[in-house]
Amino acid sequence: MNSQRKLIGSRVLTLKETTSTNDEARHLARSGYGEGTAVVADIQTKGRGRNGRKWVSPEGGLYLSIIIKPYAAASKLPFITLMAAVAVLRALRGLTKLNVAVKWPNDIVIESKKAGGILCEASAGAVIVGIGLNLNTSLAIMPKQLKKQVTSLKFETGSSINKERFLSLLFDEMDVLYRDFLHGKHEEIADEWKSYCHTFGRRVNVITARGAIEGIAEGMGKRGELIVRGYDGKIKKIMQSEALKVNEGEI
Ligand code: BTN
Repeated sequence: MNSQRKLIGSRVLTLKETTSTNDEARHLARSGYGEGTAVVADIQTKGRGRNGRKWVSPEGGLYLSIIIKPYAAASKLPFITLMAAVAVLRALRGLTKLNVAVKWPNDIVIESKKAGGILCEASAGAVIVGIGLNLNTSLAIMPKQLKKQVTSLKFETGSSINKERFLSLLFDEMDVLYRDFLHGKHEEIADEWKSYCHTFGRRVNVITARGAIEGIAEGMGKRGELIVRGYDGKIKKIMQSEALKVNEGEI
């Protein structure tokens, strides 16, 4: 472990099984556990993803939640999701040399296949940063309907990833990035995130409550929103919280 580490991962609780590490972390934050506390579980029985979707969480995956208590305007909160994704990308690219990328707004992908996701939830003065990764997950045990859309780091590299080593790298990266976030380096974080983005330049079909928005993804705005040029030539902006499903395709 890095002796310079001050905050993120300063306390790590490891569980064999839990409902959701985000729920565990929320309870811990409410009972006074400090910023930087992390909860890791081998299995989640009620893991959840964005928009209330189930996050299938069998053994082999990494299920992690980190408590942070940033003093930041609500408009800056989408940058926490970006920050977490950048930390995951740095750690995974450092460890595996795979071309891991991000799909807007919060998917970790390898060649269009989902390998992980991030779910940040605000709760009573804290933000719970939830990270789910198919680290050493066997694809054979994934539900049938997911098999074609997902991958795991183990499958892509052909060998198991050392979870402790990955966590140590991730905490180090997150610690640096969180300090950057607190020092207002939001644009720098967003720029790095954009450099990893798989979505830009592709056709997208984004399902929202106001209907499907189609066009070419051109970039990301200052509030983390996706900028899409519709086929009518008009620019459309989609907030992270609006996107129910994002379908990507080639141009
Ligand atoms: C998504 O892509 O929809 C986000 C998935 C986030 C899953 C992680 S696993 C750890 C934490 N606990 C949860 O219940 N969800 C997040």
